[in-house]
Amino acid sequence: MSSNKELVEKDKRYTWHPFTQHMTERDPVVIQSAKDASLFDVDGNEMLDMISSWWTCVHGHANLEINKALKEQSETLEHVMFAGFSHPSAINLAEKLAQVLPGDLNRTFFSDNGSTAVEVALKLSYQYWKNKGEEGRTKFLAFDGAYHGDTVGAMSVGQGCGFFGVYSDLLFQVETLPYVPTWEGDADIEQKEKEALVKIEKIISKSKDEVSAVIMEPLMQGAGGIRLCRPEFMKAVVDIARANDILVIFDEVAVGFGRSGSLFACQKIGITPDFICLSKGLTAGYMPMSVTVARDHIFDAFLDEGFGKAFLHGHSFTANPLACAVALRSLELFEENKLIEKIVHIETMHRTQLERLQSHDNVSKARVMGSIFAFNLGDTEGEYKSDDGEFMRDWFLSHGLNIRPLGSTIYLMPPFCITDAQLNRAYDGIFEALGALKVSKLKPLKRAV
Ligand SMILES: Cc1ncc(COP(=O)(O)O)c(C=O)c1O
Repeated sequence: MSSNKELVEKDKRYTWHPFTQHMTERDPVVIQSAKDASLFDVDGNEMLDMISSWWTCVHGHANLEINKALKEQSETLEHVMFAGFSHPSAINLAEKLAQVLPGDLNRTFFSDNGSTAVEVALKLSYQYWKNKGEEGRTKFLAFDGAYHGDTVGAMSVGQGCGFFGVYSDLLFQVETLPYVPTWEGDADIEQKEKEALVKIEKIISKSKDEVSAVIMEPLMQGAGGIRLCRPEFMKAVVDIARANDILVIFDEVAVGFGRSGSLFACQKIGITPDFICLSKGLTAGYMPMSVTVARDHIFDAFLDEGFGKAFLHGHSFTANPLACAVALRSLELFEENKLIEKIVHIETMHRTQLERLQSHDNVSKARVMGSIFAFNLGDTEGEYKSDDGEFMRDWFLSHGLNIRPLGSTIYLMPPFCITDAQLNRAYDGIFEALGALKVSKLKPLKRAV
């Protein structure tokens, strides 16, 4: 077996990592194995995976039931093209999704990751209006601070997060709506929402005949900084969109599969969007796959005697059987293991930390929703990298915790198999790191307002 040092050297020689400046990045942590909430490096050192490896491993790592489903599927059918063919795992998964999603979200279109799920929703909503003879509805509405992925369409509707400046000439124009983030003790929230909704109504009524759809990350903007919002706000936006005949796309790539405390955020809001995009927790971190599930009226608009109205989009790995088998077993485990109750318990655990967190000098905007726990360092917000966040990241890594700040936002999104003792280890780590930050920094952080 290669040593850690050898593997790191080879990694640095041959790989190109995402979101990484290779000139300055520290050596990667080489993970050899994982079980439940723990990652183990080549030398056997344990690290708690407090962000579920990019929010994917909802059941934790190496779940025995999912391993079994994957093995069985691999011994039966590993792949078959999905045009003109189908297979039991895709059929059963699509049926299961229709059962657990609200309303008539009944038609599952498979693709490969969160970004492609968004691309599919954008293309479907664009073509929906063309198929209905409304040629002029070519624009999209999206939120300030939103992130929807890294492909060109997803970047276009994610311009509000500010990560894509270098590609700006490539992106199509999107009308940006104001987002209203909230946190514990946010006394002015109703007024802020009211003002934003007036602006949103104005923007929408001005451009309504040109707009195909509005896309939003319901209840939580993820990569934009774990910015939570109230269900009432999302519901009001959807009501305005619907009153103006605009389709509604919910990007639940990050927040779906229990993160918000409901299986899907749309259920918490009480909305059936026209499209829902799902990935990450869909396959519990095992396989790259996503789905865009559409309501019946959307599917019906693509039916015709001729080929012209069909949705001409697909991928080599569309509805890969291994991924479908894993996703189906994962959804069954939500029910068998009563995971929503477990998530409510995790939320209760997070809430026990709020008072201590809110009274800390280096902390602002503490927030909790379901399994999500977040706060900002000082009164900062925004950019993807921050020196304080990087300091915290290094501290966590050297203390056996995988907690990867988003700029100056520190957050936890643990797998649902997390134990109370492991949660407490992470909370203690956060407070210790905050203490270390206070003494380590040249520039003191301001007390949050
Ligand atoms: C809300 C949201 N949409 C889309 C994506 C893109 O997903 P992927 O990285 O799988 O392409 C992400 C990724 O973090 C996301 O958080």
